[in-house]
This record gives sequence, C-alpha cells and structure tokens, in this order.
Amino acid sequence: MSSPIGCAVVGYGPKHNFGWAHSAWIEATPDLRLVAVCDIDPERTTAAKRAFACIRTYNHVPDVWEDDEIDLVSIVTPHFTHCPLTLEAFAAGKHVVVEKAMCLNVEDATAMIEAGKRSSRMLAVHHNRRHDGNFRRIKQIVQSGAIGEVFHIELSAGGYGEPDSGWYREKHKSGGAFFFWGPHAVDWALDLIPQRIVGVSGFFHKLLWHGMSNEDQTRAIVRFENGTVADITWSHLAAVRKPLWRILGAKGGILDPGGGGNVGYEKQINGPSGGSLTLVTYGEDGRHEQEVPYMESDWHTYWQDIADHLLRGGPVPVSGEFGRRVIGILEAAERSSRSGQTEEAPYE
Ligand SMILES: NC(=O)c1ccc[n+]([C@@H]2O[C@H](COP(=O)([O-])OP(=O)(O)OC[C@H]3O[C@@H](n4cnc5c(N)ncnc54)[C@H](O)[C@@H]3O)[C@@H](O)[C@H]2O)c1
Repeated sequence: MSSPIGCAVVGYGPKHNFGWAHSAWIEATPDLRLVAVCDIDPERTTAAKRAFACIRTYNHVPDVWEDDEIDLVSIVTPHFTHCPLTLEAFAAGKHVVVEKAMCLNVEDATAMIEAGKRSSRMLAVHHNRRHDGNFRRIKQIVQSGAIGEVFHIELSAGGYGEPDSGWYREKHKSGGAFFFWGPHAVDWALDLIPQRIVGVSGFFHKLLWHGMSNEDQTRAIVRFENGTVADITWSHLAAVRKPLWRILGAKGGILDPGGGGNVGYEKQINGPSGGSLTLVTYGEDGRHEQEVPYMESDWHTYWQDIADHLLRGGPVPVSGEFGRRVIGILEAAERSSRSGQTEEAPYE
C-alpha cells in the first residue's frame, strides 16, 4: 500500500458531528486521503459534500466496497451496525476503523476479529479518548509513581434525565446504557491497570425512564489480579453527582471533577483541554495538594498511528482483541447484575 491511503467514512451523523470529525482527522493526516463519505441519509451526504468539496458521496454502502480507490473505511454508524458493516468491509478487502462501542457482544467481536485475520486486513477500534488531555495527565502522574501503587479507581458520569431520542435509547440497537460512555471508561481503566481481570460485578437499575429500553443506571466493579479495583458508573438517575475520576494510590490520590473540558472534537480535531485536576501526595513532610492543568488532547495521534501501522508496520493503535476485552467487561457486568454473583470476564 502506498501513501496517501484512500479512505471512506461510513456514517456522517448529526448527533455528535462525528462523521465530520473522522473525515477531518483523515484529511489532516498526510498519509491518509478522504475519498468518500457514505450515509444512507442523503441529507447527511449533502452536509458532507458541503464540508469536504472534493469527495465522492454514496448513499448505498456496497458502492463503498466496490470503490477501488478506497483501502480503509471508518465506520461511524449506530452500534448494532458495527459488526455487519465490518464483516462486509473485510469481505470487500478493506481495512477497518470501527467506532466504539465495537459491537453489541463478545460473539460479534470475535466474528469481526476472525474475519479481519482471514482477509489479512487491519481491525482497529476508535478508543480515541485515550488521547483526552485529562487522561493523558492522569496516566503521566500514575506512571511517574507520584501517588504510589494505585489500588482503587472510581469513574462516574451521566446525570439525571432521560437521554434524547433515537437509537441510543433502544437497547437492541445501542447495547444498553453502558455502551455509549462505558467503552471509554473501561478502556481508560484497562490502559491504566495492565493486569489480568479476575472478576466483574454488575449493578443495573431500571426504575424511572420507561420510555426507553436502555437501563437507567449501570455500574461495573472490576477486580484485577493484584487487588486493584475499578468502579465504573454511568447514570441517568444521578440526582447527586460524583467527580469524573477519583484515584487512590498508596502515597496519594487524584480527583478530576470532569465537566466537559475535553469535549470539543465535534468542532475541532485537536485542542487545548482547558481544565485541571487535584493531585494530593503524602511525603515525609506531610500532605501536599496542587491543581495540575490537563495536558493538550491529541486525538489526531490515533490517525497517524493507523497510517504508521498500514504503511510502516507499527502497532495497531487499539486492536480488535483489546476492543473485545472492553465489550467482555460490559457483558460480564450485565450477566452479574442478573445472577447476583461476580462473573468472569471472558478475556482476562
Ligand atoms: N469516540 C467518541 O468519542 C464518540 C463520540 C460520539 C459518537 N461516537 C460513536 O459514533 C458512532 C455514531 O454515533 P453518532 O452520534 O454519530 O450517531 P448518529 O445517529 O448521529 O449518526 C449515525 C449516522 O449513521 C447513518 N447510518 C445508519 N445506519 C447506516 C448504515 N447501515 N450505513 C451507512 N450509514 C448509516 C445514519 O443515517 C446517521 O447519519 C457511535 O458508535 C457512537 O458511539 C463516538
């Protein structure tokens, strides 16, 4: 394959402007070239053509598979379409970047991984929020040893209210309430704690928002082999909020209130994050507390890594196997919520 690699974005949705973001990231990567955007809704391809004048647009996905100038497709469609579109893309000989949530269950994730291997094509999951400025700062602090050995992580997001309409509310299309933000949170926790998972406990609640089939609140408590615990909650029923991140180490802790500082890629593809977190450390001279600014978000790095993999043999930024591990935890949490027992995650 030679540079620039011909790319297509499939799904140019209005909700988060995320087909635009994928297109803009591709356009900003010298080794990649945006050839086409496809969406089954003609209004959305008209919007894409307005933003990227030189592209072809398609409203029929098989046209993408037949376009020989396209080697890489980026799938930015509703969750329930991720597996079938990925399988079709591999059958057509394309490389695939698929948005999170990778798919609805582990069985589909395995089918996607195996199809990629059979066709000798790349499968990468778009866990781009590893590049958020707050997460980059948190990872840097944890890896520096400043708070000692991390043994407890809490991640919490959401609010109080029914989510807006559409497929995101329908469990058979979305995967459930955990599948929008949850994959980011699980990905962060796994990236921070490179340990085997020994069990997952889940607590799912359905009390109030009966107009949607998604759960009202979902929580997963993940136990790692070294005893570290990650406690991840997404809520539509959080009348009282928690900080986004609370991390405890043997010699200190990190509190990140969150609050939107990292949200921005709907309008820009890299950017200052504009927030800070509280770092507390304990040393021989007692307690120290400081505000530490977030780092810059470098979402675009993900796309250069994709190009480096395809052109120069570098690692896949987030492999299908890693994406499946994330889905496995969400699935185990739901199983545990039903069984009342701690469940094994299928991929440790
Ligand atoms: N990584 C992130 O930070 C982040 C942020 C926002 C959204 N997302 C992900 O992006 C994906 C899309 O979300 P969204 O908010 O843009 O949804 P959306 O509903 O706004 O857009 C989906 C688009 O896909 C189109 N579509 C549906 N089925 C299709 C098909 N079979 N072929 C072609 N087009 C099809 C629809 O017409 C629509 O325009 C989801 O996986 C979501 O989780 C990720």
